[in-house]
Amino acid sequence: MTESNQEGLSNLLHEERRFPPPEALAAQANYTADAYAEADKDRLAFWEKQARRLDWDTEWSEVLDWTNAPFAKWFVGGRLNASVNCVDRHVSAGRGEKVAIHFEGEPGDTRTVTYADLAKLVAQAANALTDLGVGQGDRVAVYLPMSVEAVVSMLACARLGAIHSVIFGGFSAQAIYDRVLDADAKLIITADGGYRRGKVFPLKPIVDEALAKGSTNVARVIVVKRGENEVDWDASRDLWWDDIVGRQPDTHEAQAFDAENPLFILYTSGTTGKPKGILHTTGGYLTQVAYTHHAAFDLKADTDVFWCTADIGWVTGHSYIVYGPLANGATQVIYEGTPDTPHRGRFWEIAQKYGVTLLYTAPTTIRTFMKWGDDIPAQFDLSALRVLGSVGEPINPEAWMWYRRVIGGDRCPIVDTWWQTETGAMMISPLPGVTATKPGSAMKGLPGVSVDVVDDTGTPVPNGGGGLLVLTEPWPSMLRGIWGDDERFRETYWSRFADEGYYFAGDGAKKDADGDLWLLGRVDDVMNVSGHRISTTEVESALVSHPSVAEAAVVGATDPTTGQGIVAFVILRGDAADGGEAMVSELRNHVAKEIGAIAKPRQIMVVPELPKTRSGKIMRRLLRDVAENRSIGDVTTLADSTVMDLISSGLSTAPPED
Ligand code: PRX
Repeated sequence: MTESNQEGLSNLLHEERRFPPPEALAAQANYTADAYAEADKDRLAFWEKQARRLDWDTEWSEVLDWTNAPFAKWFVGGRLNASVNCVDRHVSAGRGEKVAIHFEGEPGDTRTVTYADLAKLVAQAANALTDLGVGQGDRVAVYLPMSVEAVVSMLACARLGAIHSVIFGGFSAQAIYDRVLDADAKLIITADGGYRRGKVFPLKPIVDEALAKGSTNVARVIVVKRGENEVDWDASRDLWWDDIVGRQPDTHEAQAFDAENPLFILYTSGTTGKPKGILHTTGGYLTQVAYTHHAAFDLKADTDVFWCTADIGWVTGHSYIVYGPLANGATQVIYEGTPDTPHRGRFWEIAQKYGVTLLYTAPTTIRTFMKWGDDIPAQFDLSALRVLGSVGEPINPEAWMWYRRVIGGDRCPIVDTWWQTETGAMMISPLPGVTATKPGSAMKGLPGVSVDVVDDTGTPVPNGGGGLLVLTEPWPSMLRGIWGDDERFRETYWSRFADEGYYFAGDGAKKDADGDLWLLGRVDDVMNVSGHRISTTEVESALVSHPSVAEAAVVGATDPTTGQGIVAFVILRGDAADGGEAMVSELRNHVAKEIGAIAKPRQIMVVPELPKTRSGKIMRRLLRDVAENRSIGDVTTLADSTVMDLISSGLSTAPPED
């Protein structure tokens, strides 16, 4: 963890403010304090009870098989269909006319989709995929804007027992190619484009570029018409969504799959350059996303309107746009665009329009709204809001208080939810009808979740102590592995505390005097930029792939809005120019092209040397000191102690353009 985290920590731990749940909410809450005791008494029975909230075709014979740890099997022998659980069962229960999705496009177009509509759309898409030869176990890549079709595509795959691999719409052609190749996808679903900041951003052209990079097994590309932008067409491969899906029958007989049938792969950054394909399966995942959505938001499916502002390309979108809310039969809002298009009140206008009661967003977004000023949300009626959620990065107490006061009118509990792509669902969060919250603390493990903070030897730290966050017992929505790389799965998550059998999350955390948890950010080389995980090595690899770069080192520096910002130090090749602004700007664009715009460094410093230990390891700690304008720490382990003077005196930097 960084020094600045440590500094912030001492302030955090003096937090005296407490916000008990509103009485009216507590009186009718879905879960009371008893849930903790119940789960502690018999954890597996507790999870079994949660699993029963779903419809199963065949009951399981065993709740958890952990004999082949760390490869878990939950609800062994149970059979179900995720898509039927998210759609058909609500229609069968007479809730077909209930709105599932209020879609709001960035240009202002809207679409209302009831559960009955969704059932038809998913059936048509499943029939289309079947026609194209997609079946159980096949991988389908999805590269779509926020849209009804994105949800339908995922559910259609799930319906067939096929595995979706959603790729965030901001990722580059190279990133798509790498993911398609790693998962060996046979089909891609994309769109001509989508709307962002009033303009159409291309998607199909990026897929074309990705597929031109080398050979893959992608035989078909289905294209949703959205952007109305010109796209090239390969008649032997490309199909318009409306042509192939639109003409299908709107019923589809679904089959049940084993609880452990893979549901999706989602790539996320790790400490090495290559993103990991996190694998999730069906029964346990669906159980925990449905439960946590019901518990942490105190969801009342008949009356609440839920809005998760994440993109479907990240795990938050998978679990709390698609699977959790739909499994629970909730009504939700899906918004295509950015918060400031066409004006900075767009989010609050949408919340007012649909009467949003439960809002789930990220600290970086909250801090942006804070910057824009209280008067913007004040222009809208947000009185329907009941519970406010936060996810993706530590939320600083100022942002927490602002969220509570300005958005929540001082009456809505805030649930700061800690979890990861790997955990599949929320793990640490207050319960809105139970917990007296503290600004900036995610509080404690949800009922059924076993979490601790340990020192390097795996010993739990006492209250008041800090260390590494671990999960001490398996949980239903845990990742089942890394696609195609069992060894990396063991090594990354289970080797650090192998004796104890703990899952190592990669986050630092502290227990306060009451034993409540404060998350402190990553302890590895993974950066968190606006809630997006990006590894330092991934950006370094992108930089050194540019012909002018000899060497690169990347650090995450504290940033008041985005949490962390990417700062790169590069050594140029002898024959390259001396690192003027044009070169710096070219390198920033090069990283965007290699990975995606989210990975564009905030700042690039051209340096003559990098600080290395005698064994050649780059000392990122010192670079972070430079990036965060601190005095430079201990340099005694440097191979050449004059390097830092050289770096500090010869900096060539360029301010960010965007
Ligand atoms: O560092 C933690 C941070 O985000 C990481 C997981 O990133 P990702 O897999 O992309 O999933 C993000 C959405 C679940 C974690 O290792 N993180 C996530 N939520 C919080 C958080 N850090 C502090 N507080 C949170 N509530």
